[in-house]
Amino acid sequence: MRLDIISIFPEYFAPLDVSLIGKARERGTLDVRLHQLRDWAHDVHRTVDDTPYGGGPGMVMKPEVWGEAIDTVIDTAIDTGIDTVVGSAGGPAPRLVVPTPSGRPFTQELAQELAGEPWLLFACGRYEGIDSRVMQEYSGRLRVDEVSIGDYVLAGGEVAVLVMVEAVGRLLPGVLGNAQSAVDDSFAPGSMRNLVEGPVFTKPPVWRGHEVPAVLLSGHHGNVARWRRDEAIRRTVRNRPELAAELDPATLDKHDRKLLEELSFRLQPEDVAN
Ligand code: ADE
Repeated sequence: MRLDIISIFPEYFAPLDVSLIGKARERGTLDVRLHQLRDWAHDVHRTVDDTPYGGGPGMVMKPEVWGEAIDTVIDTAIDTGIDTVVGSAGGPAPRLVVPTPSGRPFTQELAQELAGEPWLLFACGRYEGIDSRVMQEYSGRLRVDEVSIGDYVLAGGEVAVLVMVEAVGRLLPGVLGNAQSAVDDSFAPGSMRNLVEGPVFTKPPVWRGHEVPAVLLSGHHGNVARWRRDEAIRRTVRNRPELAAELDPATLDKHDRKLLEELSFRLQPEDVAN
C-alpha cells in the first residue's frame, strides 16, 4: 500500500519509523511518503492560511496551496506501480482522507475498507480547517472522505492520521505477527462483534497476592472461551453500554442472555421479540 501524507508538521510522523509500521515500511508492505505543505506556498513567509470569509476566530487553510500539493502527489502516480485504481482523469488515483472533527466516524469497519485500498492520501488540516472547495474540487475526481477519530477536538489532523495509519497498517497482510489478532478484534465482524475484550493475564500465577483466574490455568479450552466471553460481556455492559445495546440477539446463546439478566442489562425490546 502506498500512503502519502501532506502536513505542515511532517516531523509529527516520526513514530511511523518504529514498531509494526516501521517494519512494514522496511519490508516494502507500506510505502509512506511525507510532504511539507509549505513547499507549495509561494510567498516569502510560506503562508498556508488566511482569515475566514464571514468572520469568526482562527484561520482557514488556503485552497491554492492545497490544490498544488494534492495535484503534485496525484501526478506521481506513475512511480507507484499501482494500476488497479483509476481516477476519473484516467490514471491511477489515491483515495483522499481528510481528518476533521466534523467528519464521519473512524471505525474498525472503515479501517478495514481503507486497508483494501492500494493508495491513500491524507491531507492534514490545522487551524479551523481547509477551505471547503478543496474537498469539493477533488470529490469530482477522487473518493474523498472527511473522517473524525472521536468526539473531541485536536489541534490538527496529524495525530488523527497517526491513529488511522496504525489501525489500517496492522490489517495489511503480513504486518501482524499473528493473523488471528486482527480477526479477534473487538469491533471486527464475528461472534465477538460489539464486545470489548475482557482482562488478560500472564505469568506468574500469583502476583502481590492477586491470583490469575483458575479457569485460565485449567487447560480446558471450552471453559476458557466461555469465561472470556462472559468477561467481555461484563466489561462491555459496564464500560460501553451503548455498544452492548447493539448486540445482535442472533449471536447470543442462553448463557449470554442469563448473564445479561444477572447484570440487569435489558436488550432493546424489539430485539427480544426476535
Ligand atoms: N482534527 C481535529 N480534531 C480531530 C478529530 N477528532 N478527528 C480527526 N481530525 C481532527
